[in-house]
Amino acid sequence: MSDTPMSYLATAGAAADPVTRLGWGLLAIAVAVVIVVAALLAGALWRRRPGLSRDIDDRLPVERRGPGLRWIWVGVGISTLALFVSTVWTLTTLAAVRDPPTPPALTIQVTGHDWWWEARYLGEGPGQDFTTANELHIPVGRPVRLELRSADVIHSFWIPKLAGKTDLIPGRTNLAWIEADHPGAYRGQCGEFCGLEHARMALQVVADPPSAFRAWRDRQLAAPAPATSPPTAAGAVVFQARCAACHAIRGTPAGGLFGPDLSHLALRRTLAAGTLPNDPAHLSEWLADPQAIKPGNEMPRVPLTDGDRAALVAYLQSLS
Ligand code: CUA
Repeated sequence: MSDTPMSYLATAGAAADPVTRLGWGLLAIAVAVVIVVAALLAGALWRRRPGLSRDIDDRLPVERRGPGLRWIWVGVGISTLALFVSTVWTLTTLAAVRDPPTPPALTIQVTGHDWWWEARYLGEGPGQDFTTANELHIPVGRPVRLELRSADVIHSFWIPKLAGKTDLIPGRTNLAWIEADHPGAYRGQCGEFCGLEHARMALQVVADPPSAFRAWRDRQLAAPAPATSPPTAAGAVVFQARCAACHAIRGTPAGGLFGPDLSHLALRRTLAAGTLPNDPAHLSEWLADPQAIKPGNEMPRVPLTDGDRAALVAYLQSLS
C-alpha cells in the first residue's frame, strides 16, 4: 500500500471499493468489445467471398446476398446489452456509495484554503470542537462524514484509496464520507487546479484503532503543555509577538484564524500541507523563508534572528 499511495485501483474502504470494482468491470467490458470488434474486422478483411476473384474484376457488386444482415442485428443486440449492463452497474454503484452503510462516527468540517486544509472536528457538546490542519485522524472501520467548504477558490478533496473526489466550492457545503478498512496513513491531494501551489496542497488521513483515535482526540481537545523550559518559553514569547495574528494555539492568547491552527503541531507528520517532513531542521528552514520552499503561499517571510528562530522551533516542536 505504501508504494502506491495515490493508487485508486487498490482501495481500502466502503466508499471507494464499489467504485474500484466498477472501474475494473467497465475496463473488462471495454477490452472485450475492442477484441471482438478487432477479430470480426480482421475476419472480414481476410475472408474472400466465394466465387469472386480479383483477377477477373476488382469492382465488387453492391448487392444484398447471404446472411449479412443477421450480423447487424447480432451486433446491435450485443452493443445494447453491453451498454445496458454498464449503465445499470454504474447507477447501482452510485446509489451504493451515496450514503455510508452505518451512521457516521463523527463529522469533520474540511475547509480548503490556498494552499492547505483546515479540519474542524465537531464534538457532541459545547467545548468539544477542535481544529487542526492537513492531517485528519479517523477511527478505522467507521464511516466519517465530511462537510466540505472553501475559503477562496474551488479545491477538490481527494484521498484516492478512500473515496472519489468531491469539490470544495466557495459559498456552498458539499457532503462526502470516507471509511478506512485498515489502520494506516492514506495520502490525499487537492484534485482541482487552484493556483500556484496546487501541487503542494496535500493532506493525510490517518486511520487509527478506536483506542488510539480516542487518545488522539482527547489530546487535540486539551491545550498543549505550557512552555516552561528556557528555550521553549522564549519561543512562546516570539510566537505571541510575531505569529499569533495568523495562527492559533489552544490555551494561549494566540488566536489568529488566517493560517493553520498549530495547537499540536509536533504531532503532525508534515509541514506546509505535505511539503516537508515535520522535524526541527525542516521547520527551521521553513521559518527562515517559506516563500523559497512554497513560492506564492500566504505565509510571509518574517525576519527573525537566529536565536529567535531556534527558540521558535523549540517551542513549536514542544506542542504535542
Ligand atoms: Cu487546492 Cu488545488
